[in-house]
Amino acid sequence: MKVLVVGSGGREHAICWKLAQSPKVRSLYCAPGNAGIAQVANCVDVKATDVDGMVKWAKDNAMDFVVVAPDDPLALGMVDALEAAGIPAFGPRADAAIIEASKAFSKELMKKYRIPTAKYETFTDLSAALSYIEAQGAPIVVKADGLALGKGVVVAATVDEAKTAAREMMEGKKLGESGSTVVIEECMTGPEVTVLAFADGEHVRPMPASQDHKRAYNGNQGPNTGGMGAISPPPQYTPDVAERCMDEIFLPTIQALKAEGRPFKGVIYFGLMITPDGPKVVEYNARFGDPECQTVLSLLDSDLLDIFTACREGTLDKVDCRWKNSAACCLVLASGGYPADYKKGYPISGLDEAGKSAIVFHAGTAEKDGHIVTNGGRVLGVTALGSTLDEAIANAYAAAKPISFTDMHFRTDIGHAF
Ligand code: AMP
Ligand code: GLY
Repeated sequence: MKVLVVGSGGREHAICWKLAQSPKVRSLYCAPGNAGIAQVANCVDVKATDVDGMVKWAKDNAMDFVVVAPDDPLALGMVDALEAAGIPAFGPRADAAIIEASKAFSKELMKKYRIPTAKYETFTDLSAALSYIEAQGAPIVVKADGLALGKGVVVAATVDEAKTAAREMMEGKKLGESGSTVVIEECMTGPEVTVLAFADGEHVRPMPASQDHKRAYNGNQGPNTGGMGAISPPPQYTPDVAERCMDEIFLPTIQALKAEGRPFKGVIYFGLMITPDGPKVVEYNARFGDPECQTVLSLLDSDLLDIFTACREGTLDKVDCRWKNSAACCLVLASGGYPADYKKGYPISGLDEAGKSAIVFHAGTAEKDGHIVTNGGRVLGVTALGSTLDEAIANAYAAAKPISFTDMHFRTDIGHAF
């Protein structure tokens, strides 16, 4: 089969790396891809958000299957457009991807179907939002409704901080239209875990749990990033918690979306907090998380294309889905300054050496005059396995040692920060 993957980050490199192992994949393409992805797939110069361009390219080049990995093209309806053009595509349609694209929608869904999450109210009127904050008191969480690249959430320790956040989002239009509706919710406490799950509209098959490290610096300090590293499985996700999540969250969510006439087919991301009252949903995403995807897919033994196909065809209950009995750690090496301004174009050394003992997934890299250079905030995700979590973490750090580029920044406490 001729398969196209849409996207260009570490997540897409992991998806391409795994798909390339499938005997059914005869040729693999990635749009737009990066320098690491180019080692396993043919990179295609079409932007991930260019829906018409992607459909045209996939049609002109007779793709048999397209995997849409990032949130933006999913929200824009790329899967709908590909399917309408007769091209089988993996990922939720726009009407199901809305669980990520609109927090107001997903909170309403959880309320209606009694799926555990933080108590909340939605506001389009600033003065009503300010009165609600005043009445509830702090700590309290203020969220922009739309996609905001992880910058739309303020966990406010004081009422003043919460009011400032609401004012900036709703009045200052700091986040553009994403902030014109805000969700204000109760502040939950407890460890956070991610569970990615395959879904076919009816069935749900959770992957091993994982845990992201969203803050830029050690000890979970500093600004939020896309994720500075991930581990799988996190020790807090015990079999008891897993069972409750399946019964109270995963199955009810998939059934709720089906009942609403928006069956979810693809990978659903459950961002969970294990609170003293049990597991609750922090957020849904409509796709693999990055860097959680890198750890989880490195543990998959089965054929990823078979699983993707089963999700689309509604046969997920029958497909082979086996996982290694190991742990995994993905350590992100980032550009100095990320998530704020950073420079690009620095040559990266030590990649071949690191590749001997770990999988080095590329996130923001490019090729320039025969050298691999930095080309984004998150540059690489060094991913290693181990028979225990501690071993996987030690292996990832050891493997990353030879890698260097100017101003390289990484956390030294991945897997030990919670
Ligand atoms: P989100 O974009 O909704 O995942 O939020 C980003 C981060 O903000 C989460 O990973 C949590 O650490 C934090 N957060 C979001 N909602 C809450 C909440 N209700 N209580 C406590 N922390 C939260
Ligand atoms: N790692 C968090 C996310 O992908 O949303």
